[in-house]
Amino acid sequence: PFYKTMFGLSELEETIRTHYGLSQVVIVAGDSEVSAQTKRELGRACSQILVKVMRPNDVVAVTGGTTIAQVSNQLASSSELKTNWFVPARGGLGESLDYQANTIASMMAKRTGAQYRLLHVPDHLGEEAFASIMNEPNIREIVDVIRSARIVVHGIGDAMVMARRRRLDRAIIDAMEAEGALAESFGFYFDRKGAVVHKMQTVGLRLEDIVKTEVVIGVAGGKSKGEAIAAIMRFGHNDVLVTDEAAALEMVALI
Ligand code: G3H
Repeated sequence: PFYKTMFGLSELEETIRTHYGLSQVVIVAGDSEVSAQTKRELGRACSQILVKVMRPNDVVAVTGGTTIAQVSNQLASSSELKTNWFVPARGGLGESLDYQANTIASMMAKRTGAQYRLLHVPDHLGEEAFASIMNEPNIREIVDVIRSARIVVHGIGDAMVMARRRRLDRAIIDAMEAEGALAESFGFYFDRKGAVVHKMQTVGLRLEDIVKTEVVIGVAGGKSKGEAIAAIMRFGHNDVLVTDEAAALEMVALI
Protein backbone atom coordinates (compact mmCIF):
# COMPACT_ATOMS: atom_id res chain seq x y z
CA PRO A 1 0.00 0.00 0.00
CA PHE A 2 0.88 3.67 -0.50
CA TYR A 3 1.72 4.48 3.13
CA LYS A 4 4.34 1.75 3.12
CA THR A 5 6.25 3.25 0.22
CA MET A 6 5.77 6.72 1.63
CA PHE A 7 7.48 5.88 4.90
CA GLY A 8 9.83 3.37 3.36
CA LEU A 9 8.44 0.53 5.45
CA SER A 10 9.01 -2.06 2.73
CA GLU A 11 12.65 -1.09 2.61
CA LEU A 12 12.87 -1.43 6.39
CA GLU A 13 11.21 -4.84 6.18
CA GLU A 14 13.70 -6.00 3.57
CA THR A 15 16.71 -4.68 5.51
CA ILE A 16 15.66 -6.52 8.67
CA ARG A 17 14.62 -9.64 6.80
CA THR A 18 17.95 -10.08 5.05
CA HIS A 19 20.06 -9.08 8.06
CA TYR A 20 18.47 -11.69 10.31
CA GLY A 21 17.84 -14.30 7.63
CA LEU A 22 14.07 -14.34 8.14
CA SER A 23 11.56 -15.54 5.60
CA GLN A 24 9.11 -12.71 6.24
CA VAL A 25 9.07 -9.37 8.08
CA VAL A 26 5.95 -7.25 8.39
CA ILE A 27 6.15 -3.74 9.83
CA VAL A 28 3.09 -1.71 10.74
CA ALA A 29 3.33 2.08 10.84
CA GLY A 30 3.67 3.84 14.22
CA ASP A 31 4.66 2.91 17.76
CA SER A 32 2.50 0.37 19.56
CA GLU A 33 3.84 1.52 22.91
CA VAL A 34 2.13 4.86 22.57
CA SER A 35 -0.75 4.01 20.25
CA ALA A 36 -3.42 1.43 21.05
CA GLN A 37 -4.42 1.56 17.39
CA THR A 38 -0.90 0.53 16.31
CA LYS A 39 -0.95 -2.31 18.82
CA ARG A 40 -4.20 -3.56 17.33
CA GLU A 41 -2.69 -3.31 13.82
CA LEU A 42 0.28 -5.33 15.03
CA GLY A 43 -2.08 -7.99 16.34
CA ARG A 44 -4.07 -7.99 13.14
CA ALA A 45 -1.02 -8.29 10.88
CA CYS A 46 0.19 -11.25 12.93
CA SER A 47 -3.20 -12.95 13.00
CA GLN A 48 -3.44 -12.74 9.21
CA ILE A 49 -0.04 -14.37 8.80
CA LEU A 50 -0.92 -17.08 11.30
CA VAL A 51 -4.13 -18.06 9.52
CA LYS A 52 -2.24 -18.18 6.22
CA VAL A 53 0.46 -20.55 7.45
CA MET A 54 -1.91 -22.89 9.31
CA ARG A 55 -2.62 -26.26 7.71
CA PRO A 56 -5.14 -28.93 8.73
CA ASN A 57 -4.21 -30.78 11.95
CA ASP A 58 -1.57 -28.24 12.93
CA VAL A 59 -0.86 -27.65 16.59
CA VAL A 60 -0.15 -23.98 17.33
CA ALA A 61 1.66 -23.13 20.57
CA VAL A 62 1.22 -19.57 21.84
CA THR A 63 2.90 -17.55 24.57
CA GLY A 64 1.22 -14.95 26.76
CA GLY A 65 1.40 -11.17 26.94
CA THR A 66 -0.59 -8.14 25.88
CA THR A 67 0.63 -8.25 22.28
CA ILE A 68 -0.35 -11.89 21.74
CA ALA A 69 -3.70 -11.03 23.34
CA GLN A 70 -4.16 -8.55 20.47
CA VAL A 71 -3.33 -11.27 17.95
CA SER A 72 -6.06 -13.34 19.55
CA ASN A 73 -8.54 -10.43 19.54
CA GLN A 74 -8.05 -9.99 15.80
CA LEU A 75 -7.93 -13.63 14.83
CA ALA A 76 -10.53 -14.63 12.27
CA SER A 77 -10.77 -17.42 9.77
CA SER A 78 -13.19 -17.80 6.86
CA SER A 79 -13.75 -21.48 7.67
CA GLU A 80 -13.80 -23.29 11.00
CA LEU A 81 -10.40 -24.66 11.89
CA LYS A 82 -11.85 -27.82 13.44
CA THR A 83 -8.77 -29.97 13.02
CA ASN A 84 -6.43 -27.44 14.60
CA TRP A 85 -5.28 -27.19 18.18
CA PHE A 86 -4.15 -24.16 20.15
CA VAL A 87 -1.99 -24.86 23.19
CA PRO A 88 0.05 -22.74 25.60
CA ALA A 89 3.79 -22.79 24.91
CA ARG A 90 4.65 -22.88 28.61
CA GLY A 91 3.11 -23.57 31.98
CA GLY A 92 2.11 -20.71 34.28
CA LEU A 93 4.72 -17.96 34.42
CA GLY A 94 2.97 -15.66 36.88
CA GLU A 95 1.17 -13.44 34.38
CA SER A 96 -2.24 -12.01 35.15
CA LEU A 97 -5.10 -14.16 33.87
CA ASP A 98 -5.99 -12.13 30.77
CA TYR A 99 -2.46 -12.43 29.44
CA GLN A 100 -1.69 -16.02 30.30
CA ALA A 101 -0.86 -18.38 27.47
CA ASN A 102 -3.68 -20.72 28.58
CA THR A 103 -6.27 -17.95 28.31
CA ILE A 104 -4.99 -16.86 24.92
CA ALA A 105 -4.87 -20.39 23.50
CA SER A 106 -8.49 -21.00 24.52
CA MET A 107 -9.64 -17.65 23.10
CA MET A 108 -7.91 -18.29 19.79
CA ALA A 109 -9.59 -21.68 19.55
CA LYS A 110 -13.01 -20.22 20.32
CA ARG A 111 -12.60 -17.50 17.72
CA THR A 112 -11.72 -19.96 14.96
CA GLY A 113 -13.70 -23.08 15.83
CA ALA A 114 -10.47 -24.90 16.64
CA GLN A 115 -9.73 -27.09 19.66
CA TYR A 116 -7.50 -26.34 22.61
CA ARG A 117 -5.71 -28.00 25.48
CA LEU A 118 -4.57 -26.27 28.62
CA LEU A 119 -1.57 -26.83 30.84
CA HIS A 120 -2.52 -26.23 34.45
CA VAL A 121 0.87 -26.24 36.09
CA PRO A 122 3.32 -23.56 37.14
CA ASP A 123 6.33 -23.55 34.85
CA HIS A 124 9.03 -23.07 37.47
CA LEU A 125 9.17 -26.15 39.66
CA GLY A 126 11.76 -27.73 41.90
CA GLU A 127 13.39 -30.96 40.66
CA GLU A 128 11.20 -33.29 42.67
CA ALA A 129 7.91 -31.61 41.80
CA PHE A 130 9.03 -31.44 38.16
CA ALA A 131 9.80 -35.15 38.01
CA SER A 132 6.54 -36.20 39.62
CA ILE A 133 4.40 -33.85 37.53
CA MET A 134 6.01 -35.11 34.34
CA ASN A 135 5.05 -38.63 35.40
CA GLU A 136 1.35 -37.75 35.47
CA PRO A 137 -0.16 -39.31 32.33
CA ASN A 138 -2.56 -36.36 31.78
CA ILE A 139 0.21 -33.81 32.01
CA ARG A 140 2.58 -35.92 29.94
CA GLU A 141 -0.01 -36.13 27.18
CA ILE A 142 -0.56 -32.39 26.88
CA VAL A 143 3.18 -31.72 27.18
CA ASP A 144 3.77 -34.04 24.24
CA VAL A 145 1.11 -32.20 22.22
CA ILE A 146 2.78 -28.86 23.04
CA ARG A 147 6.19 -30.14 22.02
CA SER A 148 4.78 -31.39 18.72
CA ALA A 149 3.61 -27.90 17.66
CA ARG A 150 4.42 -27.07 14.03
CA ILE A 151 3.85 -23.36 14.65
CA VAL A 152 4.84 -21.18 17.60
CA VAL A 153 3.56 -17.63 18.00
CA HIS A 154 5.37 -15.63 20.65
CA GLY A 155 5.75 -12.17 22.12
CA ILE A 156 9.07 -10.56 23.02
CA GLY A 157 9.74 -8.45 26.07
CA ASP A 158 12.48 -6.58 27.87
CA ALA A 159 14.10 -9.01 30.33
CA MET A 160 13.91 -6.85 33.43
CA VAL A 161 10.39 -5.63 32.69
CA MET A 162 9.20 -9.22 32.32
CA ALA A 163 11.10 -10.50 35.35
CA ARG A 164 9.46 -7.85 37.51
CA ARG A 165 6.03 -8.37 35.94
CA ARG A 166 6.31 -12.07 36.77
CA ARG A 167 7.59 -11.32 40.27
CA LEU A 168 10.70 -13.44 40.00
CA ASP A 169 12.82 -13.60 43.15
CA ARG A 170 15.18 -10.69 43.63
CA ALA A 171 18.16 -13.07 43.74
CA ILE A 172 17.20 -14.57 40.37
CA ILE A 173 16.66 -11.13 38.83
CA ASP A 174 20.09 -10.00 40.08
CA ALA A 175 21.76 -13.14 38.77
CA MET A 176 20.13 -12.72 35.37
CA GLU A 177 21.10 -9.07 35.21
CA ALA A 178 24.69 -10.01 36.01
CA GLU A 179 24.58 -12.49 33.12
CA GLY A 180 23.45 -9.71 30.79
CA ALA A 181 19.78 -10.60 30.41
CA LEU A 182 18.25 -8.19 27.94
CA ALA A 183 15.31 -9.92 26.29
CA GLU A 184 12.60 -12.37 27.26
CA SER A 185 10.71 -14.68 24.99
CA PHE A 186 9.04 -18.12 25.22
CA GLY A 187 9.60 -17.75 29.00
CA PHE A 188 13.39 -17.78 28.50
CA TYR A 189 15.81 -14.92 29.03
CA PHE A 190 18.48 -13.93 26.49
CA ASP A 191 21.52 -11.64 26.38
CA ARG A 192 22.15 -9.14 23.57
CA LYS A 193 23.79 -11.77 21.41
CA GLY A 194 20.75 -14.00 21.65
CA ALA A 195 22.34 -16.53 24.02
CA VAL A 196 20.11 -17.93 26.74
CA VAL A 197 20.95 -16.87 30.27
CA HIS A 198 19.61 -18.58 33.36
CA LYS A 199 18.67 -21.89 31.70
CA MET A 200 15.77 -23.58 33.41
CA GLN A 201 13.74 -26.72 33.23
CA THR A 202 10.32 -26.30 31.72
CA VAL A 203 7.19 -28.39 31.41
CA GLY A 204 6.39 -26.60 28.17
CA LEU A 205 8.42 -25.92 25.04
CA ARG A 206 12.15 -26.41 25.61
CA LEU A 207 14.80 -24.59 23.64
CA GLU A 208 15.43 -27.75 21.62
CA ASP A 209 11.74 -27.81 20.67
CA ILE A 210 11.81 -24.18 19.54
CA VAL A 211 14.92 -24.84 17.47
CA LYS A 212 13.08 -27.65 15.66
CA THR A 213 9.74 -25.86 15.22
CA GLU A 214 8.90 -25.40 11.55
CA VAL A 215 7.29 -21.95 11.76
CA VAL A 216 8.28 -19.54 14.54
CA ILE A 217 6.38 -16.24 14.43
CA GLY A 218 7.49 -13.40 16.71
CA VAL A 219 5.29 -10.38 17.32
CA ALA A 220 6.45 -7.35 19.27
CA GLY A 221 6.62 -3.61 18.82
CA GLY A 222 7.41 -0.34 20.58
CA LYS A 223 10.58 1.75 20.59
CA SER A 224 11.79 0.39 23.94
CA LYS A 225 11.64 -3.21 22.67
CA GLY A 226 13.93 -2.67 19.66
CA GLU A 227 17.04 -4.07 21.35
CA ALA A 228 15.16 -7.00 22.87
CA ILE A 229 13.66 -7.92 19.50
CA ALA A 230 17.12 -7.75 17.90
CA ALA A 231 18.48 -10.07 20.61
CA ILE A 232 15.76 -12.65 19.95
CA MET A 233 16.40 -12.43 16.19
CA ARG A 234 20.09 -13.16 16.94
CA PHE A 235 18.98 -16.28 18.81
CA GLY A 236 18.23 -17.14 15.22
CA HIS A 237 15.24 -19.43 15.12
CA ASN A 238 12.51 -17.10 13.93
CA ASP A 239 10.95 -17.39 10.52
CA VAL A 240 8.57 -14.46 10.71
CA LEU A 241 8.77 -11.16 12.58
CA VAL A 242 5.79 -8.85 12.91
CA THR A 243 6.78 -5.51 14.40
CA ASP A 244 6.14 -1.78 14.22
CA GLU A 245 7.99 1.15 12.73
CA ALA A 246 9.35 2.42 16.07
CA ALA A 247 10.93 -0.92 17.02
CA ALA A 248 12.14 -1.51 13.46
CA LEU A 249 13.99 1.83 13.40
CA GLU A 250 15.74 0.91 16.66
CA MET A 251 16.66 -2.48 15.22
CA VAL A 252 18.10 -0.97 12.05
CA ALA A 253 20.20 1.45 14.12
CA LEU A 254 21.83 -1.61 15.76
CA ILE A 255 22.82 -3.23 12.44
O1 G3H B 1 7.43 -12.65 26.13
C1 G3H B 1 7.19 -11.46 26.12
C2 G3H B 1 6.05 -10.91 26.76
O2 G3H B 1 5.06 -11.84 26.84
C3 G3H B 1 5.64 -9.68 26.05
O3 G3H B 1 4.54 -9.17 26.70
O4 G3H B 1 3.31 -8.30 24.76
O5 G3H B 1 2.68 -7.69 27.09
O6 G3H B 1 4.79 -6.80 26.09
P1 G3H B 1 3.78 -7.91 26.11
